[in-house]
Amino acid sequence: MPKPKVFVTRIIPAPGLERVSACCDADIWPAETPPTPGEILARVRGVDGLLCLLTDRIDAAVMDAAGAQLKVISNHAVGVDNIDLAAATARGLPVGNTPGILTDATADMALALLLAAGRRIVAGAHEVRSGGWKTWGPSYMLGADFAGATLGLLGFGRIGQAVARRAAGFGMRITYHDPFVTDPQPGLEAQPVGLERLLRESDFISIHTPLNEATRHLIDAAALAKMKPTAVLVNTARGPIVDQQALYAALKERRIFAAGLDVTDPEPLPLDSPLLELDNLVIVPHIASASWRTRAEMSRMAAENLIAGLKGERLPNCVNPDVYPAQ
Ligand code: DGY
Repeated sequence: MPKPKVFVTRIIPAPGLERVSACCDADIWPAETPPTPGEILARVRGVDGLLCLLTDRIDAAVMDAAGAQLKVISNHAVGVDNIDLAAATARGLPVGNTPGILTDATADMALALLLAAGRRIVAGAHEVRSGGWKTWGPSYMLGADFAGATLGLLGFGRIGQAVARRAAGFGMRITYHDPFVTDPQPGLEAQPVGLERLLRESDFISIHTPLNEATRHLIDAAALAKMKPTAVLVNTARGPIVDQQALYAALKERRIFAAGLDVTDPEPLPLDSPLLELDNLVIVPHIASASWRTRAEMSRMAAENLIAGLKGERLPNCVNPDVYPAQ
């Protein structure tokens, strides 16, 4: 029997790649940069399965270009905002993702950015290299205190809670705003608060919500205006949750103290972006999940979702379970 045909939109780590290659006739995009929308449309024709990345826009046109034999879309990410889920569900196509496995790595990065932005690590490193470091100074390069400070978590799912556990170790007071989490979390001292209060009272704010129409530009000029002038904002979720123009203005005019971004809008951030002029902003290139074990496991999970879908089995991690008949 011929192996199912799949398109894999990038070379993924070995645990996933080996699984896919063993049981599929796999067309693997060889370049380091993603296929263009046109290239995706061309390469999906006739495939039974698609393993894609968060950099690939998978919409109804892609699904239709693939054809009626397409059985599964597996995203090598936990976030699925790059996929038109309504279109997939309407076509009965299960969509897989990789939840859980990147929780710790992402929470680690959120803490790293809170520390880097709050304690001016990148600006300080620049001082050393540029000759700005003249002496130890009593008021030189002062930054934020963590112990006793309030951390407001926007989103209190797996990653938000993992950040809370880490921040508790720093002696921080934790509050959160999440319309979908109502119960206090066992073993976690964290107080649910309204969005307005979180914005006004937090010393540090870390974003852990999915990107959707309710969260796009959730942090806009009005939200930034409510924050303390000493506030530090970190985003490891999705770039468009923050209105970058408004963030630029708030940081430039020192209306908030600092920010740390793992995600931007667009990605990659163009080199002429005014954000890159700011000395109170730390930006890293969407690497929160980029640890060895995490990426290996993400690739395994993405491959297992793909293979289950090709076999007509329920995906181990499916974001649109409505495609399955009620049990
Ligand atoms: C995801 O999986 O959605 C992350 O953003 C990858 O880093």
